[in-house]
Amino acid sequence: MSMLAAVIMAAGKGTRMKSAHSKVVQKAAGDALIKYVLRACQEAGAEKIITVVGYRQDEVRETLGSDSLYAEQVNMLGTGDAVKSAMPLLEGFAGDVVILSGDAPLVRSETIKSALRAHRSSGSSATVFTAEVDDPCGYGRIVRGENGSVLKITEDKDASEKEKEIREINGGMYCFRAQELFYALKKLTNNNAQGEYYLTDTLEILRSAGKAIGAFVVQDSEEILGINDKYELSLADKILRMRINKAHALNGVYFQNIENTFISPEVLIEPDAEILNGCILEGGTKISSGAVIGPNSHITDTLVGENSTLDNTVAIQSEIGDDCHVGPFAYIRPGSRIGKGCKVGDFVEIKNAVLGDGTKASHLTYIGDCDVGEGVNFGCGTVVVNYDGKKKHRSVIGDKSFIGCNSNLVSPVAIGKGAYVAAGSTITDTVPERTLAIARARQVIKDNWKDKRTD
Ligand code: UD1
Ligand code: CA
Repeated sequence: MSMLAAVIMAAGKGTRMKSAHSKVVQKAAGDALIKYVLRACQEAGAEKIITVVGYRQDEVRETLGSDSLYAEQVNMLGTGDAVKSAMPLLEGFAGDVVILSGDAPLVRSETIKSALRAHRSSGSSATVFTAEVDDPCGYGRIVRGENGSVLKITEDKDASEKEKEIREINGGMYCFRAQELFYALKKLTNNNAQGEYYLTDTLEILRSAGKAIGAFVVQDSEEILGINDKYELSLADKILRMRINKAHALNGVYFQNIENTFISPEVLIEPDAEILNGCILEGGTKISSGAVIGPNSHITDTLVGENSTLDNTVAIQSEIGDDCHVGPFAYIRPGSRIGKGCKVGDFVEIKNAVLGDGTKASHLTYIGDCDVGEGVNFGCGTVVVNYDGKKKHRSVIGDKSFIGCNSNLVSPVAIGKGAYVAAGSTITDTVPERTLAIARARQVIKDNWKDKRTD
């Protein structure tokens, strides 16, 4: 099988985005537009991927990292010029080149593969992805001859009245035989309405040289949608999100409201998990089987164990074990590891803390920078006082200890295994194993006090 390289055009400014950032790093469904294009190239089997960069190339390079090579386009002289700038990186390459746009994230890798198969089996020098659309305005039109073969592509701004009526448009994606692409690029001129070097002109150049030109009609025309402004970005977001959600649903995940659930591409969800209304799941999050997430939970880079529930919860860069009940209204901050069968109830915040199996903090509690053993019970209103105004300190709380309501544990402090802390205590010293610590003023009763008051 011959080799495949990909060129992603991403140097343009994208003025209509009205943004200080590159158009192709704008996010849809939790990921940069160009990342979808990159993944499609990788899945289609491209061994070499070259991204043409220009405007805000710092952002584009940072987004793709070492997954792509980069060619710099110095002046924006058009799509033909963009691809030309990638030529030095393809020197001597004799396979096929697929050309895509960084702002068209909806193309599926299967579509690229099918187009490539058609391109190769027909022996064409170039194959353009086309689609039939209701409103072809703004797109290049596919001009076919009487026998149906592609003659050329005419840009909207250069089209005659008759050509403007053509509803088959150029999707802006192509397969080329590398050497023939290079040949045609060298012959491009900018003699057109926009004074640009049009990549689209390469087709007519090749046809005039007696080469075969093909068209691959993309059945689902939504795949060629280019994203130019924030409204189109929101439409792409919805389409990408529904694709992700549908794949999870077909894999056995239950959605209470599939249209109002936001899952970014790298999230893993096991079958039989349930996602309730209004959830956002992002980054490297993994949800295990039987877990119920939501409603209204925002989970980022967090592992959730089997059969755990996270009701109205925010969790970031943490691990939650099996059979836990979290929320409603819990906040699990980075670096937290919650064991099996734990309860983290309403208005409880956990930060950079370890909770052993079966530990419970049912209400109104803050546990920060703390190693908590198994089977510990935190009464309502416990605060681990981890910050002295300058530094954070870490505390250790032993297995099966019991922390009474409204206690302050002033870090660094150690609570021994099986120890009790009386409600309302402010603990500043070690509490040994199996003892009771009371650190509060004794109650005083003043007899007939009301009678002495004058008011
Ligand atoms: C292009 C096609 C048009 C097609 C449409 C599909 C040409 C001449 N026209 O038009 O037939 O219907 O796409 O969406 O190719 N870019 C660069 N450097 C440049 C110019 C553009 O990298 O100098 C990049 C842009 O960042 C963008 C892509 O190339 O990612 C397409 O450029 P754009 O200006 O959007 O082309 P269209 O006018 O939409
Ligand atoms: Ca465009």
